[in-house]
Amino acid sequence: MGSMPEYDLLTTGQDESPRFSGGSCGYTRLDITDNDSVARLIDDFAPDVIINCAALTNVDQCEVNREACWNVNAVAVEHLAKCCLAKGIRLIQVSTDFVFDGASGPYKESARPNPINYYGRSKLAGENYARGAGTEKWAIVRTVLVYGAAENLSRSNFFLWVRDQLMAGKPIRVVNDQWRTPTYALDLANGIEQIIRYGRHGVFHVSGREYLTVHDFACQIAEALDLDRSLISATDSQTFKQTAARPAKTGFIILKAETELGYAPHSSSKAVEDLMHQLGNV
Ligand SMILES: NC(=O)c1ccc[n+]([C@@H]2O[C@H](COP(=O)([O-])OP(=O)(O)OC[C@H]3O[C@@H](n4cnc5c(N)ncnc54)[C@H](OP(=O)(O)O)[C@@H]3O)[C@@H](O)[C@H]2O)c1
Repeated sequence: MGSMPEYDLLTTGQDESPRFSGGSCGYTRLDITDNDSVARLIDDFAPDVIINCAALTNVDQCEVNREACWNVNAVAVEHLAKCCLAKGIRLIQVSTDFVFDGASGPYKESARPNPINYYGRSKLAGENYARGAGTEKWAIVRTVLVYGAAENLSRSNFFLWVRDQLMAGKPIRVVNDQWRTPTYALDLANGIEQIIRYGRHGVFHVSGREYLTVHDFACQIAEALDLDRSLISATDSQTFKQTAARPAKTGFIILKAETELGYAPHSSSKAVEDLMHQLGNV
């Protein structure tokens, strides 16, 4: 996305100080479940568009800490949408492939959601609340297995995890029965920017184009980085027990974003090459 002088961007988060210097209008600490603070900030900054990326995203923790999960992923979005409706603000809600059950991916936007874990249920509720921002004012951007690199990240992601483990010579086990269309974070940002620029609304599937298992994706990363692929062993969801169920075949058909937004994601090999430059590996 690069620098975008045409936008005045205020970033928010829960940290005391910003993790990255992306906001041309600075940074404000904000808990999105604090309705008064959200309403006050919206009054003060008077945005044209709000992009809501905030969520509780640890799928296993969401399964057990249900109230906290629902409050951030669903209830806070209801309030955000009400504020947007009152002020005529556009709301872009970032959502997930986990709204689907994974029985018949890759999915189009028109496919019927049927979440199989609590995180997915809370995110689907968040989507439905986001629609309350008003006709033609809401957009839901669903994405899948996002990876990338940035300064001062609070969490790792699949790409960095595979790279770090293999660079340390540590063996990893990766599932070979979960299919995804992994998404380079820069592409997701570009897709969101295109929605804003072209004034689009509705549901958009914004991901990579390549449909592969998580295990195959790990092997692709190893090969691109010239790391030892033999450290990666395949496992399946039956063996690899996790608290929350994971949908088997998600992944997206991105034709709508391609045709309506001009969305053109990097191939995964190009994305990894880009990341290697960023990380100074080349
Ligand atoms: N990463 C993926 O593969 C993926 C795939 C599909 C969809 N998504 C969606 O993409 C969005 C971003 O996810 P991510 O992967 O970047 O996850 P993330 O790293 O967990 O980011 C979520 C952010 O929300 C913040 N947050 C949590 N509760 C908050 C609150 N009450 N008030 C304000 N901020 C709060 C977190 O802050 P703390 O760091 O302080 O907790 C964190 O910075 C989410 O909507 C997620 O559902 C991600």
